[in-house]
Amino acid sequence: SCNESVIGITSVFKGAFVHSTHTSPMDILENFILGVSEAGKIVFIEGAYEQENLAKRWGFRNTDITHLKDWEFFIPGMVDTHIHASQYSYMGTGLDMPLLQWLNTYTFPAELKYKKTEFAEEVYNKVVKRTLKNGTTTACYFATIHTDSTLLLGEIADKIGQRALVGKVCMDINNTVEEYKETTEESVEETKRFISTLLQRKYPQVKPIITPRFVLSCSDKLLKDLGFIAKNNDLHIQSHISENTEEVQIVKEMFPDCTSYTDVYNKYNLLTNKTVMAHGCHLTDKELDIFNQRGAAISHCPNSNLSLCSGLLDVRNVLKHKVKIGLGTDVSGGYSPSMLDAIRRALDTSKALTIQTSGYETLTYKEVFRLATLGGSQALALEDTIGNFEVGKDFDAVLVSPSIPDGPFDVFAGDTFEVVVEKFLNLGDDRNMVEVYVAGKKVVPFKE
Ligand code: GUN
Ligand code: FE
Repeated sequence: SCNESVIGITSVFKGAFVHSTHTSPMDILENFILGVSEAGKIVFIEGAYEQENLAKRWGFRNTDITHLKDWEFFIPGMVDTHIHASQYSYMGTGLDMPLLQWLNTYTFPAELKYKKTEFAEEVYNKVVKRTLKNGTTTACYFATIHTDSTLLLGEIADKIGQRALVGKVCMDINNTVEEYKETTEESVEETKRFISTLLQRKYPQVKPIITPRFVLSCSDKLLKDLGFIAKNNDLHIQSHISENTEEVQIVKEMFPDCTSYTDVYNKYNLLTNKTVMAHGCHLTDKELDIFNQRGAAISHCPNSNLSLCSGLLDVRNVLKHKVKIGLGTDVSGGYSPSMLDAIRRALDTSKALTIQTSGYETLTYKEVFRLATLGGSQALALEDTIGNFEVGKDFDAVLVSPSIPDGPFDVFAGDTFEVVVEKFLNLGDDRNMVEVYVAGKKVVPFKE
């Protein structure tokens, strides 16, 4: 029809596509053909036997088709639902103490350095590139309290081509590192300046997110004002919740009138269908019910939960409560920037729970793959735009090449596609991720 022919197809890929849907944690679509529009959206995805019909209907030639090589496949770009861009500078170090000591000893002194935008520029370029080449097409970032550095993170994500939610961190109490603190007024005013400046720049794939650090760092007034700003501007919200038992205990003492940690955020309008809360290891069933009612999501950060000895999140129970959930690296509480690592640590965590609990239903690698892709898109309220290869969504994708020379694993003649995907998820790394696309644009290998 007329309507269809005005949409220009810019690329057509033929080969295998691996993704998740609501009904299946992993579908392997072998010998399929997928078309991407100029606007970067998936226009069709069908069996290759439809090639002739599709070519006529959409006006492309056989020579326009990019053929995937043997064993190659596309997966949806992975969604890191929780990562501290600023903590990338000390990633892989300082994992020898529990959360609250860790924050004061390593984190706050490190984050203080981002007062200097030159330092921020160096680290933020590196973290965006590192995560993007590891297949993270969407990242939900904490920066620091510094507005100009945080704006720079948004600019860098846009320039390099990563989809991102970017948060200026808000904290006005309980900080033992004296210099790394804002007044309540500063925090609120700078948040407003951050939001309006970032929105003015109209980056197509970079959006602001309201970011109270966590209850222990924020006064009542700050929480209240941030909830209000988020509500009035329909903004995303991120924070931390119920990560560590000591933290949960202190929150209880700070808010004797609130029935739970969740109740505190809920009271300040910070639990919405655009909220993602990191960790949630120690949430009760009642709290999960509130998450479900509000449509708020959890970011499961298994590497961090193990590295800081915070706890083991029972993902099966979260799923039973129908709470949206994705995976996060939580760099640098988590020591790896890779979502493949998050997948593996999520499986390890589920297996540790299986050891502890007789009859526990261990997560499958396919379910965890879904958490890293479709689950993450749901957790960030971006499911209409990303998460899998459905028509109408943006083409955010990673081209995986399993049998590269000197790669991290081997493929043998008798292997099925399913086996090769499983090997990649357990053993693969960025060497296998030969191309990365965001909204139809090739962003890895990098432009410069
Ligand atoms: N809780 C408050 N701040 C942080 C942080 O930076 N990392 C982690 N893992 N938990 C937090
Ligand atoms: Fe975190």
